[in-house]
Amino acid sequence: MQKMKQDSMEYQRGSNMQPRKGCRVILFPMPLQGHITPMLQLANILYDKGLSITIIHTNLNSPNASNYPHFNFYSIPDGLSEDEASTSDYVAFMTLLNVKCVEPFQECLAKLLSNVEEEPVACLITDAMLHFTQGVADSLKLPRIVLRTSSIASFLVFAAIPGLLRERGYYPIQDLQSEAPVPEFPPLRVKDLPETKTTDDETRNQLLSRLASQTKASAGLIWNSCQELEQDAITALQQEFRIPIFTIGPFHKYFPAYSSSLLSQDQSCISWLDKQAPKSVIYVSFGSIVAINEAEFLEIAWGLANSGVPFLWVVRPGSVHGAEWLEALPKGFLEMLDGRGHIVKWAPQQELLAHPATGGFWTHNGWNSTLESICEGVPMICHPSFGDQPVIASYVSYVWKVGLHLEKKLERGEIERAIKKLILEAEGLEMRKRIMDLKEKVDLSLKGGSAYKSLESFIGYIQSF
Ligand code: UDX
Repeated sequence: MQKMKQDSMEYQRGSNMQPRKGCRVILFPMPLQGHITPMLQLANILYDKGLSITIIHTNLNSPNASNYPHFNFYSIPDGLSEDEASTSDYVAFMTLLNVKCVEPFQECLAKLLSNVEEEPVACLITDAMLHFTQGVADSLKLPRIVLRTSSIASFLVFAAIPGLLRERGYYPIQDLQSEAPVPEFPPLRVKDLPETKTTDDETRNQLLSRLASQTKASAGLIWNSCQELEQDAITALQQEFRIPIFTIGPFHKYFPAYSSSLLSQDQSCISWLDKQAPKSVIYVSFGSIVAINEAEFLEIAWGLANSGVPFLWVVRPGSVHGAEWLEALPKGFLEMLDGRGHIVKWAPQQELLAHPATGGFWTHNGWNSTLESICEGVPMICHPSFGDQPVIASYVSYVWKVGLHLEKKLERGEIERAIKKLILEAEGLEMRKRIMDLKEKVDLSLKGGSAYKSLESFIGYIQSF
């Protein structure tokens, strides 16, 4: 994470500010890559609809303002120490942010609302996990709309953890490998229930209770998802969350691929892919957070090598415990493959999934990666790690049937078989056909279908405040 110490609010005015006809919305993302990306995509969608955009962000993981000359940016101090900012306990991280950001956020928002030179502010849009913003918005009499950046199905499961799922004895999870079904949330099995990266169940329950209660107290809920993907979950959501719900995703398809990446993307991937046969390559990436141990890293390396399939592998520096980057690879590993494998630190993922040579995506099933894969019609190998990922992976494998589930314990023989099945065999071909159908449905949803209509009604709703 990028940590810069700052003591007070800092302002960067967009250099390309145009007078706008509508009102202004203020957005506040959770400072993690998988959350910042969809929030900035949403901001671009709203800008395109004539709204003016102000982004408040923490000085931890600041977005690159120069990529958005049409927005105003305000940075607030997050108050986290280096250790707190770099912890892998995301429950503790989010809990602290919900405490430490209250004052600077309130001060910043109050100042923005008192600025008479700009358009009137219609509403605040914040990440669902930043639940404290509901109280701040209420105190300033500003409507707050919640953006939940993950899938609707996983949100419903998270919201049920402190109540229903705990009462019925699912939490704390006793057997992480249990295949027993969870009838409350088909098709999940106990092993698919979200494991949260925390050592403290009580803190997790409090965070999730507030997530649900403060979402219910909000003026509306917006999703990077659509009816074509999650109709059943939307129906269940509407029963429990009696607030306006807008399903306008996938956000990234509103624009040509552009980057809100916090890391620089290695463009050598594209020229390497250009040399590969159509649909021949397995792309491997586990997003911006997941880390693995050295033994798992080696199983992946040998599984890829033994499959005989060309591979493009993102190994994020620091994502292998105890290593800076590729030190654990056997000597001469890549040379032995003679160009069949390409490894980079970070890739232009959307472009890469859209490349004709990409035949499959071995993913951790973060929601952004999953949507990006669906939108390019690329079938998946699912290897979820924590949080929402197992729920999303279950949807990919058992609801949409566009991916293969890889067992949690990585083993080179299993990996080799899964890759061959996906890229070379009939089962993979069937999955590719199904994901192409799903992609078409999602495309239609954005071009005049349900997502398009939901966006129109969302804009009308904002303008009604
Ligand atoms: C986190 C959580 O881990 C995830 O479970 C949740 O759904 C969202 O927040 P992350 O793990 O980073 O996200 O995964 P994901 O949601 O897939 O987002 C990763 C983003 O990084 C994608 O938009 C992807 O295109 C981008 N990316 C990934 C790159 O630009 N380059 C890469 O090399 C890898």
